[in-house]
Amino acid sequence: MSTKVAVVTGSNKGIGLAIVKALCQQFEGVVYVTARDIGRGKETVETLVSEGLKPMFHQLDINDFSSITAAAAYFKDKYGGVDILVNNAGIAFKGADTTPFAVQAEVTLKTNFFATRDMLTHFLPLVKTGGRVVNISSFVGSRTLNQCSPALQELSEEELVGLMQRFVEETKKDEHKKGGWPDTAYGVSKTGVTALSFILARRLSRERHGDKILLNACCPGWVRTDMAGVTPNSATRRNV
Ligand SMILES: NC(=O)c1ccc[n+]([C@@H]2O[C@H](COP(=O)([O-])OP(=O)(O)OC[C@H]3O[C@@H](n4cnc5c(N)ncnc54)[C@H](OP(=O)(O)O)[C@@H]3O)[C@@H](O)[C@H]2O)c1
Repeated sequence: MSTKVAVVTGSNKGIGLAIVKALCQQFEGVVYVTARDIGRGKETVETLVSEGLKPMFHQLDINDFSSITAAAAYFKDKYGGVDILVNNAGIAFKGADTTPFAVQAEVTLKTNFFATRDMLTHFLPLVKTGGRVVNISSFVGSRTLNQCSPALQELSEEELVGLMQRFVEETKKDEHKKGGWPDTAYGVSKTGVTALSFILARRLSRERHGDKILLNACCPGWVRTDMAGVTPNSATRRNV
């Protein structure tokens, strides 16, 4: 039987690191820490090894297209694909950050939505029979999506991408609220991730039904990490 492999994006710290630890303890296969920064990634692997775990490392910056394609080629060549993919990498501006909202919108959507979609575009074809894909969204995303009309919940991937692009463009003219958008770049990005997960799960069940691949959006509440702060109250306004 071929070696099973699990890949977690942005796993040098926070929720991604916790997922890697749990996989190292429970998954019968090779577990990959991936990080955009090689130094931070390798340091994480060394720490885990010192705790008796045996993760591997591969560099992966989801904002860098060539990094995604290089990683996809690596996992295809070495393992014939992946069995578990956790799209965890994400960012959020702090509530006190004075960066203009339009810039926050562009940067947040770039990583959380567009780069996560790039990952899925390149890695979904590599997911093996019986594979599992988890997109780490947020309760903010599922809560917002549940409030949308059924028509909005049944968008095509292209329509969803168009909507996400429209949000970014409208923030540049300070017209996003007039356009019906909420005042949260993080919330919109995670609504996009949850909606994309529905779209791709439906596609998998249509086009690769026999492969029994399960794709879910996971929507955590507050978790104490660098992103979310030391208490729920310290979480950023745009991060809750
Ligand atoms: N904490 C919460 O309360 C909470 C709640 C709901 C959902 N989430 C979601 O859970 C996920 C993990 O968040 P966290 O709280 O663990 O945050 P975190 O501690 O800040 O960790 C974020 C991770 O993502 C990585 N990352 C950021 N941009 C990346 C990129 N372009 N390519 C590769 N890796 C990148 C970071 O790498 P660097 O170290 O290089 O920056 C870091 O490893 C995120 O998607 C977040 O939105 C968090």
